[in-house]
Amino acid sequence: MKSIYRIVLLAVFTFSFTGGYPQQDPETEKKIETLVSQMTLAEKVGQMNQLNGGRPAGYVAEAVRNGQVGSILNGTDVKTINELQRIAVEESRLKIPLVFARDVIHGYKTIFPIPLGQAASWNPAIAEKGAQVAAQEASSAGIRWTFAPMIDVTREPRWGRIAESCGEDTYLTSVMEVAMIKGFQGDNLSAPTSIAACAKHFAGYGAAEAGKDYNTTWIPEQLLREVYLPPFKAATDAGAATFMCAFNDLNGVPASANEFLIRDILRDEWKYDGMMVSDWGSVKEMVMHGFCADEKEAAERAAKAGVDMDMDDQVYFHHLEQLVKEGTVDEKLLDEAVRNILRLKFRLGLFENPYADEKTANDFYRESSLEAAKQAAIEGTILLDNKNSVLPLQNTITSVAVVGPLSHAPADQIGTWCFDGEPAHSVTPAMAIQKEYGSKIKVLTEAGLTYSRDKNKEGIEKAVAVGKQADVILFFAGEEAILSGEARCRADIGFPGAQTEMLEALKQTGKPVVMIVMCGRPMTIGKEIEMADATLLAFHGGTMAGPALADILIGKAVPSGKLPVTMPRMAGQIPIYYNHKSTGRPASDITLIDDIEIGAEQTSIGFTSYHLDAGDSPLYPFGYGLSYTTFEYSSIRLDKNELTKDSPIMASVTVKNTGNYKAAEVVQLYIRDLVSGSVTRPVKELKGFRKITLEPGESEEVSFEITEEMLRFWNTRNEWISEPGDFHLFIGSSSADVKQAHFVLK
Ligand code: NOJ
Repeated sequence: MKSIYRIVLLAVFTFSFTGGYPQQDPETEKKIETLVSQMTLAEKVGQMNQLNGGRPAGYVAEAVRNGQVGSILNGTDVKTINELQRIAVEESRLKIPLVFARDVIHGYKTIFPIPLGQAASWNPAIAEKGAQVAAQEASSAGIRWTFAPMIDVTREPRWGRIAESCGEDTYLTSVMEVAMIKGFQGDNLSAPTSIAACAKHFAGYGAAEAGKDYNTTWIPEQLLREVYLPPFKAATDAGAATFMCAFNDLNGVPASANEFLIRDILRDEWKYDGMMVSDWGSVKEMVMHGFCADEKEAAERAAKAGVDMDMDDQVYFHHLEQLVKEGTVDEKLLDEAVRNILRLKFRLGLFENPYADEKTANDFYRESSLEAAKQAAIEGTILLDNKNSVLPLQNTITSVAVVGPLSHAPADQIGTWCFDGEPAHSVTPAMAIQKEYGSKIKVLTEAGLTYSRDKNKEGIEKAVAVGKQADVILFFAGEEAILSGEARCRADIGFPGAQTEMLEALKQTGKPVVMIVMCGRPMTIGKEIEMADATLLAFHGGTMAGPALADILIGKAVPSGKLPVTMPRMAGQIPIYYNHKSTGRPASDITLIDDIEIGAEQTSIGFTSYHLDAGDSPLYPFGYGLSYTTFEYSSIRLDKNELTKDSPIMASVTVKNTGNYKAAEVVQLYIRDLVSGSVTRPVKELKGFRKITLEPGESEEVSFEITEEMLRFWNTRNEWISEPGDFHLFIGSSSADVKQAHFVLK
């Protein structure tokens, strides 16, 4: 066996995102101790209780007055928030402020693209700005804690919550979420415009079996450590003030009572001193899981595992005091939880500034915020196909038909998880195209189908009639917002309703058809993309999706998005992801179902790993996305071929813009460990990327430092190690379009 670099388990990790996490402040810790020492058992339980602000106002106010509540979620009216806070800091015995929480996922009022769309930008500055705008708007409404970012890596496009994720890759997710955490929390969490982030859902939620929400997850430790946990480790390094545990059971133990996750990993290994909240109902649902006999036992198990705050379940409220009194739960565990909760409140500056400023309240939709949302929607749009360079639209066209169920769908374009988003503020593609170009060309609008599941044939006929009158047809298709997000899972991830028939009918007009897909997940739309002359994947792009798409269609903006997830040809290929293992028989000599001779004899020789009907390739690979320009990559230059622990390699390529448009390109770095003696390794793993902008004809050298740390993996002895030997390094414009070089780890 080869010698290996063995790493002491706690010391390092593949990613090292250091950042704004405040060190514990001794003065604050003293204040926390003083408060804890003054608290009654009931008051401790009170701090651990998070109440839904939607409960009857009198009940909530009384509970706050009695010190029975530590936090309120979903109270959005600034006056109500301030009044409840006044009761907490003036009328409750210990005057501990409340912290007000809400799901502010991809915007509060100014809605940015869904997180999957933001991830498609491969630009952390976009994600940071989006979170910063969300924090500014939400804090102006009195909210100081958001339940975001969701950093569950997922290989499951059937799962509705893929919309809320950054996709399938651990590294991309980590980079984007660190940016989001920075955006929410700013440099100083106690600034009135900063809000506490929440890394969720700890852990494994994105691996729900069959892509069905809340479903069981089975994740071996190697996969957990390498794929699912790193974003959470990055969140602790970046200073995420809070964590939320997941609904699912992981390897048989619900995440809400998972001591391995919460105590062993989060607290002991990662030394996290932030606060852990349960998910809505996840503690009491351990009864339904068949893990606890009743709600009292659920409270006991969650408290023992280290869940500090109980989200609206009220099982802590009803049972924890009794559990301590009868000696089942040690009061010291409650002290620990309360310390974490009070630490959050001190870090947010709530003891000094408990109130939202009503004079500057509800500061929404700033011009700069709308501009940033538009830029995010531009950068998050992916050009999938562009036959005969149909896009951008030529300035010789005199008319366009704007059709399809998403062409003017103000609520749908803002996407899932927008409790506070206001469709009335959405600028739809139909509105934007009319406004921007209506004075220069004829803009004809007719949705045809009025929502994505619509099957109305008459509507299609109307849209076709309009399409016949135009030079180009713009077909806005996809999914309604309500078809993705929590519990919105689909077994068939193709177009719902009669959208495919509509496209077929539009095609028959003989006019060029540009398809713009607005959705919450990657969809199996190979046939439709084949039919269309060009396809843009825009996801649900938020308030400013319309102006962003109008700019892209006309060429005022150039698409630069890249897929943050693999797009399958068929749902039956799922899970399909780029960083899979090789198998002993990787796909080759693919014979598809219709090419098998009739009556062919059975054999077991020469078989390789693929599907008879789908082959072995996705519709589009991870990292893929076209531009209006073209980029040429030089071969890779390495400053040396041998890497040692103390001496990294520099790998460089020169990227040239060989087309006619100024445009951005995402230069992607992947690595493969060719032979590992301990556990098999993926065929490729993303280890870095850079987004660069080039003028036509311009070149830029892009360099990546390759360190030994980037080559580490989790072995069967539960250690992070790297193994000396041969590696491939790839740099290119997608996971499937790369230059290759070879190096050796000594
Ligand atoms: C359930 C969701 O899983 C979680 O992400 C969300 O933050 C809470 N509900 C609160 O709404």
